[in-house]
Amino acid sequence: MIAEPEELLTLGIETSCDDTALAVMKGRNVVLSSVLSSQIESHSEYGGVVPELASRMHQEMIIPLLEEVLDGAGINDPSEEIDLIAVTAGPGLMGSLLVGVMTAKALSQAWRIPVIGVNHLEGHIFANVAANRDLAPPFISAIVSGGHTEIVWVKDFGEYELLGSTRDDAAGEAYDKIAKMMGLGYPGGPVIDRLASRGDPERYALPMPLSSTSRVEFSFSGLKTAAANIIRNSEKTGTSLKKEDICASFQKAVIGSLTCKIKLAADMTGVKRLTLSGGVAANSGLRSKLNEIAEEEGWELFLPPKNMCTDNAVMIASAGTDSFLRGNRSDLSLSPDPSWEIW
Ligand SMILES: Nc1ncnc2c1ncn2[C@@H]1O[C@H](COP(=O)(O)OP(=O)(O)OP(=O)(O)O)[C@@H](O)[C@H]1O
Ligand SMILES: [Mg+2]
Repeated sequence: MIAEPEELLTLGIETSCDDTALAVMKGRNVVLSSVLSSQIESHSEYGGVVPELASRMHQEMIIPLLEEVLDGAGINDPSEEIDLIAVTAGPGLMGSLLVGVMTAKALSQAWRIPVIGVNHLEGHIFANVAANRDLAPPFISAIVSGGHTEIVWVKDFGEYELLGSTRDDAAGEAYDKIAKMMGLGYPGGPVIDRLASRGDPERYALPMPLSSTSRVEFSFSGLKTAAANIIRNSEKTGTSLKKEDICASFQKAVIGSLTCKIKLAADMTGVKRLTLSGGVAANSGLRSKLNEIAEEEGWELFLPPKNMCTDNAVMIASAGTDSFLRGNRSDLSLSPDPSWEIW
């Protein structure tokens, strides 16, 4: 028998990139237990995620974390107590996704409970649902992460319209590349965010590509090149460069690009409820600028707590629960789809 929606216990599994994360949720909003093992330190010496290493590390961590998350939720007999397993099936790195999907299918067979494949980007949208009981569609969702920069109109859960996306790099990717160039390590977002708060955003005039078009679209590769040229020129000429000022000027351009298109999406659709998610949603400058705009425009703005911006399994469990309640099901043919497009 299927439990009442608010009572449904879901085990969420996320292994799409470089975080091994598991969570047990009750309904869409109540977190019983959540664990995460980040691989950042292992990848940082290479300046980015090494897929083969990521896959191996997920494999090492997933069973110890499974035991930890079940313990944390006080689950003694998962086959009796868990109702559903929700697992990220794409988009992401093939070798990383495989570890989560195969584990989820094995557990589903062993425990005789259903499994459902979750789209990672739908998961990012549900970070806000998991954190805010009051959030209901319709709303506009800006997903700004390491691999994506997309603005989606959530007409209802499961009914999405992509309003626009990036033509080239994702915003998080631009942060990571600029940080790498300045020797600031990986991931670049948090360190640039920190340095930017101490720098002069007017010191360098960096472009905000496509900001004047009337379409919801982004481009960060020109901005990245412009910032890279300033860094290279200073190296060539031996002139000193204040990293804080580059970071502040770069961040100002990214925030300008993002906020003007988020505003355009709200104007185009007339929807005044907005959410932000994905790793770049943790950016302090972006959060405060959006709060400011929301006040001016009379928007209802939802920002997830910072630890739910980057990858986590709470958002996957929440999205999987909702998808299951909408009647979706997966079976043993569930396979990872590294480029799964949901809208
Ligand atoms: N405070 C911050 N400011 C700006 N960017 C940040 C901040 N914190 C994290 N990021 C960026 O967020 C990205 C990671 O986010 P996330 O984990 O959502 O991406 P991903 O899962 O790798 O990509 P995707 O979700 O598109 O598959 C990195 O590019 C990182 O630099
Ligand atoms: Mg992500």
